[in-house]
Amino acid sequence: MDLATKTALVTGANSGLGKAVSRALAARGARVLMVARNQQRGETALAELKAATGNDRLELLIADLKSQAQVRRLANEVSEKAPLLDFLVNNAATAYPKRCLSEDGIECTLAVNHLAPFLLTNLLLDPLKAAAPSRVINVGTRINYAMELGDLNWEGRSFRMMRAYIESKLGMLHFTRQLAKQLKGTGVTVNCVFPGVFKSNLGGTDDAQGLFWKSVSFLLGWSLAQPEQAAERVLYLLESPEVADVSGEYFGDCRIISMPAQARDPAANARVWEISERLANLDES
Ligand SMILES: NC(=O)c1ccc[n+]([C@@H]2O[C@H](COP(=O)([O-])OP(=O)(O)OC[C@H]3O[C@@H](n4cnc5c(N)ncnc54)[C@H](OP(=O)(O)O)[C@@H]3O)[C@@H](O)[C@H]2O)c1
Repeated sequence: MDLATKTALVTGANSGLGKAVSRALAARGARVLMVARNQQRGETALAELKAATGNDRLELLIADLKSQAQVRRLANEVSEKAPLLDFLVNNAATAYPKRCLSEDGIECTLAVNHLAPFLLTNLLLDPLKAAAPSRVINVGTRINYAMELGDLNWEGRSFRMMRAYIESKLGMLHFTRQLAKQLKGTGVTVNCVFPGVFKSNLGGTDDAQGLFWKSVSFLLGWSLAQPEQAAERVLYLLESPEVADVSGEYFGDCRIISMPAQARDPAANARVWEISERLANLDES
């Protein structure tokens, strides 16, 4: 695939996996719209990738994805800048140590990791369809819980950081399945990828539990992969002709992997979609 003719949007592009994917796309000549929440961190990454790849077609867009207003503003900016959007990589994620609520009244981990990609992707379907064949990649994780469908927003149960993180990522898998059905025949595919375990700054900047993740990273440091290795899994889904017509699947290292039973249940997929639509105020759009 000639990436020099392609436009990609990557969230969480200033760090870790998002930066490695942006770098690889830029090195292949693609135009990359890099989303960061912090201007300074975004500008530093932008300058670094421009210098490293010699690609001038990199642009920085700023949005804190836990705010639905900022996701909507971002979608508008992207639609104006890129009426044809070939790739959307929903990569940004975090994990909050305590239940905190976004300005929209949403538990923050759910807001960033699941509802933001849900809303952003839905708002970008026109440019994605206009560029078809086009691809959406949702970055997931290893999942060992079911979502609590009666309480996605953690209103009536005591909050647990890891569980909230994993449930939010399972939300993304439900979303991947349901969206793939809706996009059948449009030329837009959507898949989820487990990128493996690699050195990370997850939650390390603004979310106050950096020490936890840094300690885990330090203890496992010698055995953890680099984000560049994880990026190969994303690149495969973006570029490979083998997966051009595959949609609604969960990928590991360049192959489909099994997903938790709840994500394979079409009724649960539809239910999560319905709840997400309401929590993300999608019909306001
Ligand atoms: N590392 C692993 O072992 C591992 C394993 C499985 C899955 N993953 C997944 O891989 C993806 C990338 O993670 P990573 O390890 O590369 O972590 P990372 O280095 O911390 O990157 C996360 C990115 O998301 C951004 N972000 C966080 N909250 C945001 C918000 N409210 N609005 C906008 N952007 C926000 C961060 O921005 P700041 O830099 O400003 O914080 C950062 O750019 C995530 O989806 C993660 O769940 C990672």
